[in-house]
Amino acid sequence: MPFSRRTFLGATAASVAATTRVFGATKAKLRIGLLLPYSGTYAALGNNITDAMKLAAGERGGKLAGREIEWIAVDDESDPAKAPANVNKLIAGEKVDILTGPVHSGVAMAMMQIVRQEKTLTIVTNAGAQAVTGQLCAPNVFRTSFSNWQTSYPCADVMLKDGRKKVVLMFWNYSFGQESMAAFKEGFTKGGGTVIKEIAVPFPQTEFQANLSEIASLKPDAVFVFFAGAGAAKFVRDYADAGLRDKVPLYGSGFLTEGVLGAQGPAAEGIKTTLHYADSLDNAQNRKFRDAFKTATGREADVYAVAGYDTVHALAAALEKVQGDASAQKELIAALEGVRIDSPRGPFRFSKAHNPVQNVYVRQVKGGKEAVLGVALKNAEDPAFGCAMVK
Ligand code: BEZ
Repeated sequence: MPFSRRTFLGATAASVAATTRVFGATKAKLRIGLLLPYSGTYAALGNNITDAMKLAAGERGGKLAGREIEWIAVDDESDPAKAPANVNKLIAGEKVDILTGPVHSGVAMAMMQIVRQEKTLTIVTNAGAQAVTGQLCAPNVFRTSFSNWQTSYPCADVMLKDGRKKVVLMFWNYSFGQESMAAFKEGFTKGGGTVIKEIAVPFPQTEFQANLSEIASLKPDAVFVFFAGAGAAKFVRDYADAGLRDKVPLYGSGFLTEGVLGAQGPAAEGIKTTLHYADSLDNAQNRKFRDAFKTATGREADVYAVAGYDTVHALAAALEKVQGDASAQKELIAALEGVRIDSPRGPFRFSKAHNPVQNVYVRQVKGGKEAVLGVALKNAEDPAFGCAMVK
């Protein structure tokens, strides 16, 4: 039982139900759809999720509940306008058993409309849009990454404790950026802070010069930011080049530095963020995962890879309960609801809304690594506003 220590299912009513149904034995390959960005500013995120999913499958002998896997990947280009066609390609065209992805919240919102209707079992592997496990939550949709609220709200308290009372917000102007700022502002204003300016940058634009001059003239105590991937790498370098690094400290959800510390170099030193993962988390699963990912890809693992890795281990544990029969959707959903994982991020389980319940850490870049300063929220559960599955 090589995986029994890492992943197990709770003894839920569902897992009992799963033992009473006769499942259809099939040796057909399990078709897993990957709706992810493989080009553009989020390409590295899509690649890390994909490679970590394959790593987890490899750790299980390349099979989930005895079934080999057929991966069917579509480059979603982080483009919400192309999402309906891309989702239909995977569901109607490729007839995937399970749909996974995307990275971009706008793509996720378009995807939700279709998977709610088609009832495809879907695991969101990054996009943090609140509605996925809030207003639009659905029995057939799970998320292994985070909600916007989980990664942004706790940073308000961190900044207030650091004495930053007057701040500027800067973000990519699409659903994730807007929600991230709203969640941060809720906590920050409640705690007595003031937002003096909000700078919205069109996605995926990376021309920051005029905005940085404005920040210099406003002289805030700090700046709270959402950028990710290649755009975050450039923003942090531009910020330091503009002479702001030592004058106006940068904060954000951890996407600001995640996966791009190498590209940011000394420009990232000192940045404080909140996130449900840090490369330096001192647990056995994290060490094993990071070594295995490095060996398999030659790259450093990051929060995006963690979500991909946990997705496959969670799915495998649930599929075993239904003997690999992905068509037994009711039982498979119930089995997923019972999954508990000792993840590289720490303990992981799904909430009633199917969002991760997980720790959120305070991190600071020190010597090119994310040092963990503490836990901002332990076993943080998203409020799941508007989710009908939460009573
Ligand atoms: C999002 O659009 O949900 C997202 C993209 C990159 C990093 C984090 C969140």
